[in-house]
Amino acid sequence: MGIKLTMRRQVLFFLIFAFSSAGGQVTYSIPEEMSKGSLVGNIAQDLAIEVKRLKSGKARIYTEDNAEYIELNRDRGVLLVKERIDREALCAQTTPCALHLQITLEDPIEFYTVTVEINDINDNAPSFKKEEMKFRISESAVIGAKFVLERAMDLDVGMNGLQSYSLKPTDNFHLKLHSQQDGSKKVEMVLQKHLDREAQDHLSLMLTAVDGGDPQLSGTMRVEISVLDVNDNAPVFTQEIYKVSITETNSPKGTVVATVTASDADQGSNSKVTYSITNTLDNVRKVFKINEENGEISIIESIDFEKSKHFQINLLASDEGGLTDSCKLIVDVQDVNDNEPEINIMSKSNVISEDVQLQTVVTVINSEDIDSGDNGNVNCYINENIPFTLKSSTNNFYSLVTENDLDRERSSEYNITVTCSDEGVPSLSSSVTLTLQISDVNDNAPVFERSSYEAYIVENNTPGLSIFTVKATDADWNQNARVSYILEDSSVNGVPVSSYVSVSADSGVIHAVRSFDFEQIKDFQFLVKAQDGGSPPLSSNVTVKILIQDQNDNPPQVLYPVQTGGSVVAEMVPRSADVGYLVTKVVAVDVDSGQNAWLSYKLQKVTDRALFEVGLQNGEIRTIRQVNDKDAVKQRLTVIVEDNGQPSRSATVIVNVAVADSFPEVLSEFTDLIHDKEYNDNLTFYLVLALAVVSFLFITCVVVIISVKIYRWRQSRILYQSNLPVIPYYPPRYSDTLGTGTLQHVYNYEVCRTTDSRKSDCKFGRAGSQNVLIMDPSSTGTMQRIQSEKSILDEPDSPASYSIPEEMAKGSVVGNIARDLDVDLKRLKSGKARVYTGGGAEYIGLNKEKGVLLVQERIDREALCG
Ligand SMILES: *[C@@H]1O[C@H](CO)[C@@H](O)[C@H](O)[C@H]1NC(C)=O
Ligand SMILES: *[C@@H]1O[C@H](CO)[C@@H](O)[C@H](O)[C@H]1NC(C)=O
Repeated sequence: MGIKLTMRRQVLFFLIFAFSSAGGQVTYSIPEEMSKGSLVGNIAQDLAIEVKRLKSGKARIYTEDNAEYIELNRDRGVLLVKERIDREALCAQTTPCALHLQITLEDPIEFYTVTVEINDINDNAPSFKKEEMKFRISESAVIGAKFVLERAMDLDVGMNGLQSYSLKPTDNFHLKLHSQQDGSKKVEMVLQKHLDREAQDHLSLMLTAVDGGDPQLSGTMRVEISVLDVNDNAPVFTQEIYKVSITETNSPKGTVVATVTASDADQGSNSKVTYSITNTLDNVRKVFKINEENGEISIIESIDFEKSKHFQINLLASDEGGLTDSCKLIVDVQDVNDNEPEINIMSKSNVISEDVQLQTVVTVINSEDIDSGDNGNVNCYINENIPFTLKSSTNNFYSLVTENDLDRERSSEYNITVTCSDEGVPSLSSSVTLTLQISDVNDNAPVFERSSYEAYIVENNTPGLSIFTVKATDADWNQNARVSYILEDSSVNGVPVSSYVSVSADSGVIHAVRSFDFEQIKDFQFLVKAQDGGSPPLSSNVTVKILIQDQNDNPPQVLYPVQTGGSVVAEMVPRSADVGYLVTKVVAVDVDSGQNAWLSYKLQKVTDRALFEVGLQNGEIRTIRQVNDKDAVKQRLTVIVEDNGQPSRSATVIVNVAVADSFPEVLSEFTDLIHDKEYNDNLTFYLVLALAVVSFLFITCVVVIISVKIYRWRQSRILYQSNLPVIPYYPPRYSDTLGTGTLQHVYNYEVCRTTDSRKSDCKFGRAGSQNVLIMDPSSTGTMQRIQSEKSILDEPDSPASYSIPEEMAKGSVVGNIARDLDVDLKRLKSGKARVYTGGGAEYIGLNKEKGVLLVQERIDREALCG
């Protein structure tokens, strides 16, 4: 280190030097830290001692503490620095600091005192023990609050010692120094401005200590201040009003609709915010909930736009210290098309007449949809292909009106489906079905099943016999379809038709009023009117033709030869007549017709069978051999004329033939023939007498028998006993059905009430009322069918007869007709077997499946047979 003496020191130095040399002692002043070998002072000069003397006197330095900071150079007579001198180590804070040396000489012994003053130089900076100091200061600390800081140390003294402190920055704190009694200073830091943790939670200050040296040295210490939080800030929501919109049903429970956030500038628990909903009057708290911790608002109840269109949620945020903030959340609910249109029927008629005018209002309906916007716009329509249309009027009202004519007969009921759909996407719809009945109007006349009818009746019928039934149907309903049959007035052969037939108004059954005679009337026709019960009634008519069928009720009548009472007519045959000579011709007629009038001629009795024959067809009597002389003159032929009816009727005629060449010959022979005539007259008288007697006896017997039977019947009325059916034999009957020419195969059978001898028998056997089992009566039968008919004709016929008690229950079996008649069940079906009774009374029915006859109607013997 270089030596720099100030002017003041140099002056002092010279004063001390001057004094010392005079007093035998010398004082030097040097700065500390001089380098080794530096000159301290020229001792020889200052003590006025020659250098030789220093050498010869073996001058040397003596120090009390043997510290050898200074050495003596005897050659030059100067003092030099031997060791580095640190003033602070040598004297600490003591001032002044000096080294006291004795310089001793021998020969002679001399003694000099040298004082070397060591001067301080500023070689130490102020220093702090620690590098930093830490403070934790609440932001709420009051102004003026003091904080003691550590002091700094400076080993130098005087001006080189610690002089002052400074603290930077000075925003919040300033320094205050207090001088202590020991001269040191107490350093304090005083708060001069409030701390704000939220603005600055940490301050870093620098405390600097400086000394007064030149150059000035300094030491520093960091002051670290942590600002402690105080709950001086309320939470603050990020927005005052939040807005969110949600869709009603698309937001299920638990959906988070919004998250609100409030921030709190404080720290730790002072910044912990909890959220809550503060609505009290409305139902917001039932619908929403908020997560206290994170401010998530979620739905806890399904939201229905139709109930609430928006919600205002009042929210509160509070920190632990009780500071709060509030905000609003506006929730707008968006409509979703979640309601289907509602259809209300305002008024309706369930029944409508088929003749209503077009555009008649059937129903008024109203349709509403509580959704809003398009979701609530409703359109209605009805199903197609019905004679109705839906007319829209104002305010979602529609009227259902008739568009086309209605016809109950075509469709008596309509199911009208009204469908309403809204315009939402996707669209919702609903529908109702109205059932509309169409009521009847009498707009259809009865219609007969056929355009005309033909029926047959066998002559000699019993009056009251039902001939057949006409039937008409009416498409209308109930009373309008109730058909009555009326016989139209007309006349047949000048007689009103009502004296021939009557028509049952209810059933359309046509009855014969009288017994018909084919020989008088063969057919007639009339009109039957069918009239319904409507108002006004409608009607139609049909022609009915009745054809009367012939019965063989007339015997043949012989026209020739005429049978006279007294005279005898004879045909003459000359004895010369050849074979095949036409003797005469029997001429007969039959007023019946057809087979019944088809006559055949046979010889019944003949004197000589070998001589004559009669033509079967033409009634011609011819000779069949040569007449000879032996032949009697008088020949008597009885010719029988038979018709072909069933049973056949006949007439006989006696033909007298005279085989003679002359009339006198004939006359003689025929006198006994006249006697014969008288004989015959007597015989006739006796026969009549005998017949009268027999008839009387018979009637008497019948009366007696009937009396006895009635008596027994009364006695045993309860003791009824049924008998097995008796099947008598009936011959087959062929009948020619008029007009068609086909043959019917007919079985006759007889149903008897009982065969009990105590009761009178009652049979369905009266004329025209037989129960006839008819096989395939179709007039349109094919050739093949006729063949099958014929094959049946060939089979042996076995008419069946059954006997049943009266009052049998419906469905009771009368008899097994298939077995008894030996008819195959299949045949019954294929032949469309059915029961035909002339009287039209349907007491007995045929079950084709089982081949049995069944009771179809309760049979009351007394009603039937009296
Ligand atoms: C109408 O609906 C009813 C009940 O579904 C049904 O019985 C009836 O047959 C329907 N009528 C028509 C004409 O479809
Ligand atoms: C029967 O009906 C026809 C038309 O079907 C009609 O012309 C005629 O006048 C009617 N006759 C009587 C007697 O009602």
